[in-house]
Amino acid sequence: MPTVAQATLLITFKLSIFIIATLQLPPALSLTPCRTSCGSIAINYPFGIDDGCGAPQFRSMLNCSTDLFFLTPSGGYKVQHIDYDKKTMTIYDPAMSTCSILQPRHDFIMTEVQSVTIPPTPDTVFALLNCSIDSPVLNHYKNLCFDFSGHSCDELYGACNAFRAFHLLTNSSPPCCFTGYDTVKFMKMNILDCTHYTTVVNTDNLRGIGPLDWVYGIKLSFTVPKTVCEQCSRSGGTCGYDTETEVMTCLCSSSTNYTRECAGGSISAGDRISSHSPWAFFHVAILVVMCLLLVIQ
Ligand SMILES: *[C@@H]1O[C@H](CO)[C@@H](O)[C@H](O)[C@H]1NC(C)=O
Ligand SMILES: *[C@@H]1O[C@H](CO)[C@@H](O)[C@H](O)[C@H]1NC(C)=O
Ligand SMILES: *[C@@H]1O[C@H](CO)[C@@H](O)[C@H](O)[C@H]1NC(C)=O
Repeated sequence: MPTVAQATLLITFKLSIFIIATLQLPPALSLTPCRTSCGSIAINYPFGIDDGCGAPQFRSMLNCSTDLFFLTPSGGYKVQHIDYDKKTMTIYDPAMSTCSILQPRHDFIMTEVQSVTIPPTPDTVFALLNCSIDSPVLNHYKNLCFDFSGHSCDELYGACNAFRAFHLLTNSSPPCCFTGYDTVKFMKMNILDCTHYTTVVNTDNLRGIGPLDWVYGIKLSFTVPKTVCEQCSRSGGTCGYDTETEVMTCLCSSSTNYTRECAGGSISAGDRISSHSPWAFFHVAILVVMCLLLVIQ
């Protein structure tokens, strides 16, 4: 049979564990529900990978699973780089042809909103390869094709193993077309009637540089919406939006959202930690003394 003293000791012990556990609960350190990076890529305004973060114009455009993906109606494209100063994002279509691999064409489709808020840059060239002689870009829409930085289709076909395959079959150069995003936007790949395509970025700087050294991908340029985000982030908040109304909010802590900026005088996480500590110490000290007294009895 436990004595009264032992029972009291047990209760006190349990109580003290409970109180200590309560006091030592980690304070709300995560200020917002917004992740700020995906792998090595920083996620800043206007982008967000969690719903309600960033600008509503870019809602649901990114997913961070294993890597960061830019999502369009034609699929997910791996994000390679985001340049927040130049306001560009470089993506890569793993299913397109490049110097090292030949893969059948598929459409590159963006939503209407994406075409406006984050369209491909003018120095991203779409190279349509192995076009049929009936292709509109060889006939009525011939003027949509151009030579970029002095490069020709023949050079591309001759430059690397993947593209040399086009030569081998026909013993001549099948037609191709270097064109811009608008062509691909207004004509689906099956209308363009070319079997393969590739895309090259930074084409303004490629004079005299061969296809082996081109950078294959798509560079997009985004516009940052004019909002009160600067005011919000200066006050320590993160710009987001209400997921129902898509009205901008300033996410200040896990429990408070403000319209424009985080209110001055709101308790910051740091304040909460320091105000906890002396009290926790005080309570623990009292409990230890109580336990000792009980043991002595
Ligand atoms: C603050 O906004 C975020 C993102 O929209 C939302 O998840 C959260 O529930 C909001 N919190 C409050 C207290 O309204
Ligand atoms: C993210 O996008 C990739 C590429 O489309 C897809 O494979 C993956 O399942 C997506 N993940 C989530 C969580 O939606
Ligand atoms: C090029 O296009 C023709 C049809 O226009 C097709 O038969 C041929 O297989 C294509 N070449 C390659 C290498 O896919």
